[in-house]
Order: sequence, then structure tokens, then C-alpha cells
Amino acid sequence: MWPYPKIVAHRGGGTLAPENTVAGLRAGLAYGFRAVEFDVMLSRDGIGMVMHDPDFGRTVAGQGSVAGTDAAELAGMDAGSWFSPEFRDEPVPYYTQFIDYCKAQRIWMNVEIKPADGFEAATGAWVARVTRDSYAAELAAGDPAGYPLLSSFSYEALAAARDAAPELPRGYLLDNVPDDWQAQAGQLGAVAIHTNQKHLTRELASAIKAAGYGLFCYTVNDPARGREILSWGVDGFCTDRIDLIGPAFT
Ligand code: G3P
Ligand code: MG
Repeated sequence: MWPYPKIVAHRGGGTLAPENTVAGLRAGLAYGFRAVEFDVMLSRDGIGMVMHDPDFGRTVAGQGSVAGTDAAELAGMDAGSWFSPEFRDEPVPYYTQFIDYCKAQRIWMNVEIKPADGFEAATGAWVARVTRDSYAAELAAGDPAGYPLLSSFSYEALAAARDAAPELPRGYLLDNVPDDWQAQAGQLGAVAIHTNQKHLTRELASAIKAAGYGLFCYTVNDPARGREILSWGVDGFCTDRIDLIGPAFT
């Protein structure tokens, strides 16, 4: 039901490195993590870039947006200085760079499709196609543990991912799980529900598991809370505190 890793580094290396950068992946590896969650958004010229915010101003300086800027320009932007001077000029990664790094280091990927407004279907389809093409050998091998897991808060993005590459597993991200979650997840062909640990109850966890879905939570930074939700049957979660909650956490 959950062939994937249990503990996953959030946005690359959690709070130990600038989010959504290769430096983050390196930080995760240094703590023994071979499982990562990160966010992918399309550039103006339709290339997937690893970035969380649709607009500049937080992790890259200045004004503008990912959807309004070409990939080559984004890739030259400094996504590290906001975090600390040590990471100055750490670039905004191409999604394909993350794939290459993760494959080389055998890091499992939870790829969050993070579309800018209006680009839901285009982003979902692009991420699904590129991921499927990059993992063709793993998909042909037929072992789900080797498949990346796509996820999104956007129903439309996940529907487009399903249509573009139905063979890739999908997790449906829901901040608050609505009453009709199962109907939506069924239409999307989702294998898992990804939800905010803050709102999760034991009853909800039981219902999701009883319905046969994987259950993944974001973002757990308190070890006691991590133990609690695991005891409720949660299959896995991502954490910013890779220094406190290691890959072998129980
Ligand atoms: O994929 C789970 C989590 O990353 C969702 O929230 O805002 O950190 O992308 P966010
Ligand atoms: Mg995310």
C-alpha cells in the first residue's frame, strides 16, 4: 500500500539549506535522507523549474514571477542568499537537474506539481510526461518502490497528469480533507491522500486507511507528533527538521 520511504525531507533539505535547491538535496544526503519532496512550476517558456512561490520576493530577490520568466533566466537567479550568504548564487534548479541528481544518488522523489494560476493542466501534463520519460526503465521494471510519486493540491493538475501518464502514481494533496475526498481521489486514480498533519485526527486517518489509500502528512517537525500520527496508521510524512527526525525515525 505504501512502498515509498516513511520519512521524507521537505523542499529538499528542510530548514538546513535553501529550499528547493541542489544544496538542499546535498544537505538531505548528509543526514542520510534518500527521500525528498519538492515543488515544480512552469517557466514562461514551459519548462519545469523547482520553485515554491509563484512570485519573486522571498527565495529570489526582486519582482516578477516564475510563469513570466524564461527558464534560462530563472536558472541564473540566486535562490540561496535569502537563506544565508554561504549559499549565494545557488541557482533555481531545472526539474530535470533534480531528476538527474536524485537518480544518481538513488533519492526517491515526491514531486509536488505546483502550478501558477491558470497553468494547472499544462503543469500537470508537463511534469507527468517528463517524469514518465525519465523513469521509463523503472516503470517497465514494475516495482512501485522505484516510482516517483506525483502530488498536487490542484485537482486539474492531477487530472492532467493522470491523462498524460496514467502509469505514474498520484497523491492528492488536501489541506483539510473534505467529506467527498474519496470520490475525488477515485476520479483522479490517486493512490494516496497527502494532508496537513495539523488537521489530522485518528478517526480520519483510520477512514483513509480503511478505504485502501496511502496516507502521507506534511509537515511534521515535532518528533512527538510524528510518533503520534504514525501510531494512527500514517504511512509517511515530510519534515523540515531533518536534524531532529531522521530517515529511520520510528
Ligand atoms: O507536499 C507537501 C507540502 O510541501 C505542501 O505544502 O506549501 O510546503 O508546498 P508546501
Ligand atoms: Mg511542497
